[in-house]
Amino acid sequence: MLSGEKARIAVLVSGGGTNLQALLDAQKSGVIKSGEIVLVVSNNPNAYALTRAKNSGVASEILTKSGCGGQSGFEEALTGLLERNQIDLIILAGFMSILSAKFTTHWEGRIINIHPSLIPSFCGEGFYGLRVHEAALSYGVKVTGATVHYVNEIPDGGRIILQKAVDILPDDTPEILQKRVMEQAEWVLLPRAAELVSAQIIQHREEHQNV
Ligand code: GRF
Repeated sequence: MLSGEKARIAVLVSGGGTNLQALLDAQKSGVIKSGEIVLVVSNNPNAYALTRAKNSGVASEILTKSGCGGQSGFEEALTGLLERNQIDLIILAGFMSILSAKFTTHWEGRIINIHPSLIPSFCGEGFYGLRVHEAALSYGVKVTGATVHYVNEIPDGGRIILQKAVDILPDDTPEILQKRVMEQAEWVLLPRAAELVSAQIIQHREEHQNV
C-alpha cells in the first residue's frame, strides 16, 4: 500500500448480502472514506451478494471448499486471492464458514466480523442466522443488538470494535427481531467499523513510512 492510498477491502459473503449493500452504500455516501471495497468473495455460487457486487461494479470471485479440495485448500486459495489483490482489510459480512487458526493468525488485526447479538451473549459455535435471535427471545432478554469484532481462532471471540443495542419488543418473533437488529444496528455499525479500522490501517502505515 502506498502513501495516500485507501485501505483495500475485501468483503467475504455467503448469502443475501444486505451488510455488503450497507458497506457499498456507505462507500458511495462517504461514510467509508479511508477504505475502498475492491473485491467480494463468496463461498456460495448462488449468493445474491454476488449480484450486489456486480451492480456496484466491484470485482467478485467464487471460492468453494469442495472446489479447493477442503478447508486448507480453500484457505490457501483465499489467501492467494487476497494477496494478489493487495487486500489490507477483510470484512466477514454474513460469511458462513469458520476460518482456521492458521488463517486468522496470518491475517491478525486485519479481519473483522459482524455478529447479530451483544457479545458475549448468544455467540460462538452454532449461533448464526435466526438461531441467535431465537436464543435471545427464549432467554427472555429485553435488549439485544449487534457487535463488530476482530476475528481470531475463537468463533466470535476476538476483540470488540463496536456494539449497538436494540430493544426487544413484546410481540417479537425471531424474524421480526432479526430485521430490527439489521436495520437499527448491523447496517449502521459495520460501515462505521470499516471506516474506523481502515483509518487505523492508513495511520499505522504512515507512521511506519515516517520512521
Ligand atoms: C447477518 O445477520 C450477520 O450479522 C450475520 O449473517 C447475516 C448476514 O446477512 N453474520 P446478509 O447476508 O448481510 O444479508
